[in-house]
Amino acid sequence: MYIILLGPPGAGKGTQSRRLAQEYNLKIISTGDIFREEIRKESELGKKVKKYLEAGLLVPDHIVIELVKSIIRYPECSLGVIFDGFPRTIKQAEELDRLLSNCNRKVDIAINIEISDEDVIKRNTYRRVCINCGRVYHLIFDPPKTSDICDFCGGKLIQRKDDKEDVIRKRLEVYRQWTRPIIQYYSEKNILVNIDGTKNIDEVYNQIKTVIEKRVKS
Ligand code: AP5
Repeated sequence: MYIILLGPPGAGKGTQSRRLAQEYNLKIISTGDIFREEIRKESELGKKVKKYLEAGLLVPDHIVIELVKSIIRYPECSLGVIFDGFPRTIKQAEELDRLLSNCNRKVDIAINIEISDEDVIKRNTYRRVCINCGRVYHLIFDPPKTSDICDFCGGKLIQRKDDKEDVIRKRLEVYRQWTRPIIQYYSEKNILVNIDGTKNIDEVYNQIKTVIEKRVKS
């Protein structure tokens, strides 16, 4: 099964994709996580994309598409993928359709997690991420047991550089201009499902699970 998680910054795409991947044994392709890791490693790709992430702007399509093209060939992707943060433009969506149809596959569901602009600011401002294992926390809604320490690996929790309020607002503006049109793209293909992302993490997860189970049975 090939599932896309859509939604504004902080909608919960990463949080939900990790749980779904475990339950349904799917590979996650999170372009944002890959770029952050490449920046951390100071690789050539990391150096190329750093300025876009820090400014809250989209990485140019050709870089993102090349990256996804190279990953989707991995054997573990043949069992199914959850795309988190990709596609982000109509061009990326069209390219993904082409890539999948080349191996007789297609996007099965595009799940659009909806939250308000106010929630976007609240979710991103209070997000903390483990520097070591990448586990994501929220200081109010999903706090660590000990302040600034990861419950799972004991790593230090940090704030993402693009989680400062001015950059969050920029990311939201970019989302409205470039990514929101994709909702219509998948709606026209009859594979779009809207989810109320304002509920708590478990409730959002259950809504998504219901959608997936229904699709599996149909
Ligand atoms: P990316 O990492 O994809 O950022 P994003 O889309 O802005 O999404 P986030 O990771 O910020 O949020 P999320 O929806 O995953 O929410 P999360 O689960 O963490 O991209 C970053 C940058 O990389 C882009 O700006 C761009 O520069 C570049 N990039 C990446 N992909 C690209 C592409 N395809 N094309 C071009 N450029 C690209 O949750 C957020 C917080 O809320 C957490 O603290 C969490 O604990 C909490 N939370 C989650 N769910 C709930 C809930 N239901 N209730 C309460 N709290 C919740």
